[in-house]
Amino acid sequence: MFVYERFCQWLGHLKLSRVILLVTVILFVVPLFTHYYLSKYESMSGLKGANSMRHTLEVLGDISTTNVADLKLRIEEMLRIKASVSTELRELEAKRGRLQREAAAASLKADSAKAEYARAAAELQRLRVSADQARIAQLEAIRRDSPELAPPVQILPSFPPSILPPVSSSAEVHCRMFSCFDYSRCSLTSGFPVYLYDPDVYAPLASAEVDGFLKTTLRQTLGYNAHLTHNPNEACVYLVIVGEAFPFDKSPLSTTDTYKLLLNETAVKSLPYWGGDGRNHVLLNLARRDLSVGSGDAFKGASTGRAMIAQSTFTHTQFRAGFDVVTPPALGPPGGDVWADCAPIAPARRKYLLSFQGSQPTPKVQYTEQDKSLIEHLQKIANSAPASDLFLLQFECDPPVENSASQPIGDWALCGTDRSRRALLRDSTFVLILAPADSRYTTTALLQARLYEALRSGAIPIILGGDGIRLPYDEVLDWSRATLSLPRSRVTELHFLMRALPDADLLTIRRQGRVLWERYLSSVQAAVDALLATLRTRLLIPPRPAAATIGAPAFNESYFPPRVDPPAVDAEPEETLGPLEAPYPSPAYRRNYSVGLVHGYDLWNNWGEPFALYPQLPWDPVVTSEARFMGSAAGFRPVGAGAGGSGREFSEALGGDRPREQFTIVILTYEREAVLAAALARLRGLPYLNKVVVVWNGPSAPGAVSSWPESGAPVAVVRAGRNSLNNRFLPYSLIDTEAVLCVDDDAHLRHDEIVFAFRVWREHRDRIVGFPGRYHAWDLNFNNGFLYNSNYSCELSMVLTGAAFVHRYYLWAYWRALPAAVRDLVDEYMNCEDIAMNFLVAHITRKPPVKVTSRWTFRCPGCPVTLSADETHFHERHKCIQFFSQVMGYTPLLSTQFRADSVLFKTRIPHDKQKCFKFI
Ligand SMILES: *[C@@H]1O[C@H](CO)[C@@H](O)[C@H](O)[C@H]1NC(C)=O
Ligand SMILES: *[C@@H]1O[C@H](CO)[C@@H](O)[C@H](O)[C@H]1NC(C)=O
Ligand SMILES: *[C@@H]1O[C@H](CO)[C@@H](O)[C@H](O)[C@H]1NC(C)=O
Ligand SMILES: *[C@@H]1O[C@H](CO)[C@@H](O)[C@H](O)[C@H]1NC(C)=O
Repeated sequence: MFVYERFCQWLGHLKLSRVILLVTVILFVVPLFTHYYLSKYESMSGLKGANSMRHTLEVLGDISTTNVADLKLRIEEMLRIKASVSTELRELEAKRGRLQREAAAASLKADSAKAEYARAAAELQRLRVSADQARIAQLEAIRRDSPELAPPVQILPSFPPSILPPVSSSAEVHCRMFSCFDYSRCSLTSGFPVYLYDPDVYAPLASAEVDGFLKTTLRQTLGYNAHLTHNPNEACVYLVIVGEAFPFDKSPLSTTDTYKLLLNETAVKSLPYWGGDGRNHVLLNLARRDLSVGSGDAFKGASTGRAMIAQSTFTHTQFRAGFDVVTPPALGPPGGDVWADCAPIAPARRKYLLSFQGSQPTPKVQYTEQDKSLIEHLQKIANSAPASDLFLLQFECDPPVENSASQPIGDWALCGTDRSRRALLRDSTFVLILAPADSRYTTTALLQARLYEALRSGAIPIILGGDGIRLPYDEVLDWSRATLSLPRSRVTELHFLMRALPDADLLTIRRQGRVLWERYLSSVQAAVDALLATLRTRLLIPPRPAAATIGAPAFNESYFPPRVDPPAVDAEPEETLGPLEAPYPSPAYRRNYSVGLVHGYDLWNNWGEPFALYPQLPWDPVVTSEARFMGSAAGFRPVGAGAGGSGREFSEALGGDRPREQFTIVILTYEREAVLAAALARLRGLPYLNKVVVVWNGPSAPGAVSSWPESGAPVAVVRAGRNSLNNRFLPYSLIDTEAVLCVDDDAHLRHDEIVFAFRVWREHRDRIVGFPGRYHAWDLNFNNGFLYNSNYSCELSMVLTGAAFVHRYYLWAYWRALPAAVRDLVDEYMNCEDIAMNFLVAHITRKPPVKVTSRWTFRCPGCPVTLSADETHFHERHKCIQFFSQVMGYTPLLSTQFRADSVLFKTRIPHDKQKCFKFI
C-alpha cells in the first residue's frame, strides 16, 4: 500500500487539472492492469489445472498427498492475493470518488470566481458610464446659457374697470378685440379669471326672467370651471347671463312679447362693473326652451356698448367676427355622461340616404319663393332616385307643431317630438339642414338645434346654403370635417355628392361630428366651458393646469420600513443597459404659451382638449437633427456623442430624437406584501428608473412588512381611497416623468426588456408600448360584436397594461375623456381597466398599440388560477369590449401585425462588433 501513499503524495504536487487527467488515466489503467494480472494468473493456473488434470488422469492411481497439500497451499495463496487485490481496488475506487468531488468543487469555485469577475467588470463599466453621464450633466448645468425661468408672478388687476364714456352705436358695430377689449385686465399670467354676475340679482331682460333651470345649471357648471372668480376686481371677463330670449307662454308673438324679449338696456348699463361702456363684458344668451318660436336674438336693435355677445342667432351685419361668439343652444343635460343619447356610428350607410322634416316658414313672404324651387329640386331628386337610395323628405308637418306660429326669419320649424325626430335621424345617413330663407341671418337658434340633433344621432348634416352660415365656435372648431356645407345652387349635384363619399369617409365624418358634439355642444357644461375656452384662446392665455391626484402616503412621516439589500438575483449574465443616474424629472410646463400656437387646431379638433394645461403632451415637438449640435444640445445624449455606434456606445446613451429622460413605475398591489417585495427586489439596478409609485389598493395600511427590499430608486407608497383597478391610472402628482411603466406586482420583466421597451416608447409616445398582446375577434357565432381573445395570433389590437409604457397624459385622459360609465364597469367587474385604456388611446390617436420583444412570460408560473375564475374573467372581458364599444359608439381598437425588436437583433455581425442588446 505504500505505493499508493507515494502515489498520492506525488499527486498532491500536481495541479488540479492534471490530477483529473491522471485520475482518469489511473481509472483506465488500473482495471486493465488488474484484469491482465488476474487473467494471466488465472490462465496460468488454468493451464496448470489442465496439466494437473492430465497429470491426475495419468497418475490416477498414484495420488500423492504432497501434491494435494501443495495445491491447497497454492489455492489459498491465490485466494489471499485475490482478497488483497480487491481491497486495493475498493480503496482505489474510494480515492477516485474523493478526487472527483474535489475536482468538481474546484471547478465550481473557478466558475464562481469567473462570474464574480464578470459581475465586477460589468459593475465597473456601469459605474464608468454613470460617471461619464454625470460629468456630461454637470457640464451641461455649468454651460447652460438660458437659466430656468422662475414661475411667473400672476399679474392681476386690483380694481374694477374704471368709468369711461360710452361708445357711439356706430362704433359698436365695428367693435373688434383691438378696439373694444381691454387687454390690460388679462395679462398672460393672469389665468383668465371670469366673474359671473349673480343671475338672481341682475336680470337684464326686459320684464322677463331667466329660465330657472338655466340659471341654476349655469351657476353650477361655471362653479366647476377653473376660471371662475368671486373677486370682481381681478376679473378679466365679466359674464352676464341674459337668459334665453323666449317668452314663457307659447302663444304667437305679439308686439309686446317681442318687446319683452329684448334687452333692458338700463339694467345692463347699470351693472356694477359696466364701466360706462361694457368693456370685457360677455352677454350670454343661451337658447333652450322653445326653439321653434321667435328669432332667438335678444339684442336686436339694443345698444350693448363694448360688450361681446354670445348667442345662437346673428345676422350678418350684427355679427362681429373675432369678437362675438356663436354658441350652441343649451339643449342637453347640465353635464355628465351623454353617450346614452347617441346612436352607434356603424354601419356607414343607414336606411335613408337623406332625410328632412320641417314645417314651412309662415308667414309666406317673398323669400320662401327661393325655398320653393329648392324643394321642387329636392323632390325631383327623391323621386328619380334608384330604389337603393331612400329619401325621406317631408316639407309639411302633419300635424304641424302647435307653436310653429312665427318664424320671422324663414326658418323651417321642427316637426314631431324629440323622440320621433331622433328615431328618424338614427336611420339617416345624411340629414338636410336648410339655411334660413332670410339670407340676412348667418345663424339661427333653430338651425343650431337641427345641427345639435343631427350630430347627436350621427346623421351627417348637409347644410344647404351653408356658405353663408356660421356654426358654433367656428373660430376654433373645424366644422368642415363633420358637416357638408353647400351653396344652395349645388342642390342639383347633391345626390351625386352623397353617393360619391366612400364608407370610410362617412364613418370618419360621423365620428368627428360625435367628438365635436360630445366635447363642445352636448351639455350645458360643455357649451359654457367651450365659450370660455374660445375667449381664452383668443387672448393666448394658457388654460389652468389639469389637477394631479395627491396620493395619501401609506406610511407617515416618521416611519418607513427599513430598506434591506435583496439577495443578488443570479438570473442572466450581466449586461450594461445604461448609466445609473440620479432621479431626473422630465421638464414640465415648458410650453404654456406655445402649445396653443403649435397645436391649437389639434387641441380643439383632434387628439387634445382645450380645457386644461398638461405638463407634457405625447405630441410635443422635437428640435431638428442639426439643432442638437448647434445650440440646442441641452439634455440630448446622442449615441457615440453623435457618431453613432452599437454595443457600448448604444448602451451608454439614450440617443434618439428626444432629450434624456427617465420613467416611473406604477405598481398596483392588493395586500400582497411578499409579491410586492419580490417585485421591488427585481428592480434593483434598473437604469433610467426615476421612481416607483406603489398604489396600495387595500382597506388596511401596509403594516405587516418588517422591511422593504432596496430597489435602487425612490419608492413612494400611496394608499388609494377605495379598492379600484381604476386607481392604476390616477394622475398622481408623485409621477415626475412622461413615461409611466404600469406593471402588475406579479409580472416578471427582465431589465433588458424594460429598457428596450422604454427606448421603443420614446419613439411612440402617443401609444401604449408593452408586452402582452391581445386582440378583439368578431363573434362568429352570434355575429353581434367582438369578443376578447388571448390566443396565439399574428394580429393584435391591445397591449395589456399589466406591463406597458403609457404617456402620463393618458392618466388624465382616462378620467377626463372617458365616459364615467366605462370606469363604473371596471369597478363593477374588478376587471377590464386595461381594455379601457386601450380603447381610450386608440380613440384619441386612431393608432394601434406597439408590442415589443418575444422573450417574455406574463404571469408567475406557479401562481394558481382556477379554471372557473378564468372563465368568469374571460366572460367579463367579452362584456367589457361590447359595453365600451356601445358607450363610445364604435370599437376604436385598431389591429397591428408588427412587433418591435432591437435593430441588430438576429443580424450577423463581425466578431469584434457588439449588438444593441445581448438577448433581444
Ligand atoms: C406654466 O404653467 C404651470 C402651471 O400653471 C406653472 O406652474 C409654470 O410656472 C408655468 N411656466 C411658465 C414658464 O409660465
Ligand atoms: C329695466 O331695468 C331697470 C333697472 O334695473 C328697471 O328699473 C326697469 O323697470 C327695467 N325695465 C323693464 C321694462 O323691465
Ligand atoms: C407612524 O406609523 C407607525 C407604524 O405604522 C406608528 O407606529 C407610529 O405611531 C406612527 N407615527 C405617527 C406620528 O403617527
Ligand atoms: C383559442 O384556441 C383554442 C384552440 O385553437 C380554441 O379551442 C379556443 O376556442 C380559442 N379561444 C378563443 C377565445 O378563441
